[in-house]
Amino acid sequence: MKMETMPVTKGIYNLTDYDEVYKNFNWKSIEDKFSWSETGKINAAYEAIDKHADTFRKNKIALYYRDQEREEKYTFKEMKGLSNKAGNILKNAANVEKGDRVFVFMPRTPELYFIILGAIKLGAIVGPLFEAFMEGAVKDRLHDSEAKVIVTTPELLDRIPINQLPALKKIVVVGENVSAPHIDFLTEMKCASTKLDIVWVEKTDGLLLHYTSGSTGTPKGVLHVHYAMIQHYQTAQWVLDLKEDDVYWCTADPGWVTGTIYGIFGPWLSGTANVIVGGRFNHEAWYKAIEDYGVTVWYSAPTAFRMLMGAGDELINKYDLSSLRHVLSVGEPLNPEVIRWGMKVFQNRIHDTWWMTETGAHTICNYPCLEIRPGSMGKPVPGVEAAIVDDKGNELPPYRMGNLAIKKGWPSMMYAIWNNKEKYDSYFMQGNWYVSGDSAYMDEDGYFWFQGRVDDVILTAGERVGPFEIESKLVEHPAVAEAGVIGKPDPIRGEIIKAFIALREGYSDTEELREEIYTFVKSGLAAHAAPREIEFRDKLPKTRSGKIMRRVLKAWELNLPAGDLSTMED
Ligand code: PRX
Repeated sequence: MKMETMPVTKGIYNLTDYDEVYKNFNWKSIEDKFSWSETGKINAAYEAIDKHADTFRKNKIALYYRDQEREEKYTFKEMKGLSNKAGNILKNAANVEKGDRVFVFMPRTPELYFIILGAIKLGAIVGPLFEAFMEGAVKDRLHDSEAKVIVTTPELLDRIPINQLPALKKIVVVGENVSAPHIDFLTEMKCASTKLDIVWVEKTDGLLLHYTSGSTGTPKGVLHVHYAMIQHYQTAQWVLDLKEDDVYWCTADPGWVTGTIYGIFGPWLSGTANVIVGGRFNHEAWYKAIEDYGVTVWYSAPTAFRMLMGAGDELINKYDLSSLRHVLSVGEPLNPEVIRWGMKVFQNRIHDTWWMTETGAHTICNYPCLEIRPGSMGKPVPGVEAAIVDDKGNELPPYRMGNLAIKKGWPSMMYAIWNNKEKYDSYFMQGNWYVSGDSAYMDEDGYFWFQGRVDDVILTAGERVGPFEIESKLVEHPAVAEAGVIGKPDPIRGEIIKAFIALREGYSDTEELREEIYTFVKSGLAAHAAPREIEFRDKLPKTRSGKIMRRVLKAWELNLPAGDLSTMED
């Protein structure tokens, strides 16, 4: 069979000879781009903002922001002053010190970025939360991390169960009519100083704490450290291909690792103008943002591309998207069909990138200088070694399907799972292969091809959702005796969440009950975690030890053979 390829389009790229660089590159060689080479200490927020504010980039626009109500822009110099102000508020009014966990729980606005940067300047560890999270999800994360401060908005305040969180000392509120004991951020900003002493930290001090889901247990806190920035920077050069004149837009929210690493650090460590569009997905607003700002490099996700594709090409023809020169995707499998659509409507190949919360930065990608093989995630980033290994950690030859694994030691690798060394260690096979939980194969030229998750983790509209968290919520509902949750294939969202439920005595299968259960999960966890489909069954398939067999549920759903049933109770 002849493989479909998309050849390189002409251009001057930061990475021109992939093979050569892959052979020779060593992460140490770029360390001296950062100030630690002189002092031994570092601060990623300094490197991202302040450093540029003292150079020729001082008056360059760092942030273009718009939502339905606001339209603003800030230079690097202004970003320095405003993040210093935010840092001063956190320091003086909320007593934030190095190592404290500061959570941000608010929609994307310029203030969110000032606050994240300000907290990092104090050496605090920032934990970003999606604004869609409801009380249960917020509580789990603040509790596990023993967060000291949370920054939020008046609308979201009610979702923080402060009485159940003894470590939480202060709530900073960004909005109108804030009353004591909460800190009124906007009022404090008016008089806070624009001067702040940066707290210099060790390379291995914490920077970000991103909670993410696995197939078992509650969400776990993945800790990233300041040293990771060398990979944020280098991949922004090679993969995003950022250059001085670029206008870059990453559509992700910082609640997701893409929104911090490539919504903050990648572009700003590179000194690039960064576009942030607040609010929800909206076809017209998105195309208009590309046209108005003249976006040149655009990073989004397959679900968004599929939604745009579904809206039809007439819509696109109303906008001038000719500024785009490089388009990228992350988070779920990128369908070849979407890549072909991209060629047709923006004359650009969409470059898939593969990585995870745990890998902390790009690990397997398509580069502007390489041909694209639609359906493949690309090749390892120089300085990263990837392989397909069997369940014992032995490397497999090309075309054999197995576990996608990365050789331990790349700079942005997670530094810890918060308070859970056992969980951290469980990721590694034979000591030095990080095992991703994805299955894949490699072709003879070293391109990797994603096949699916090894575990039951669900990828819905780019969000990674653990079935266990949803099942735990479902059984809190009085009507639910047992619940099993799976991802069901969906043409737009990749997967949707489907719940199989056995009801308690006295409850019966009605549409109202379905609605009620859906709303129960939506208001207890988050809208994206609520099951769009619910099927009631008398009994669910379980192992003899009582574990619900999701694999059997999935086989029911897809009309596939259920495989080995020897461990199933009768
Ligand atoms: O299954 C893979 C899928 O998303 C998982 C990681 O999710 P998360 O930690 O939320 O991070 C997402 C973005 C950094 C992976 O284990 N995934 C990510 N990128 C791709 C992908 N699946 C297929 N193709 C990709 N390009």
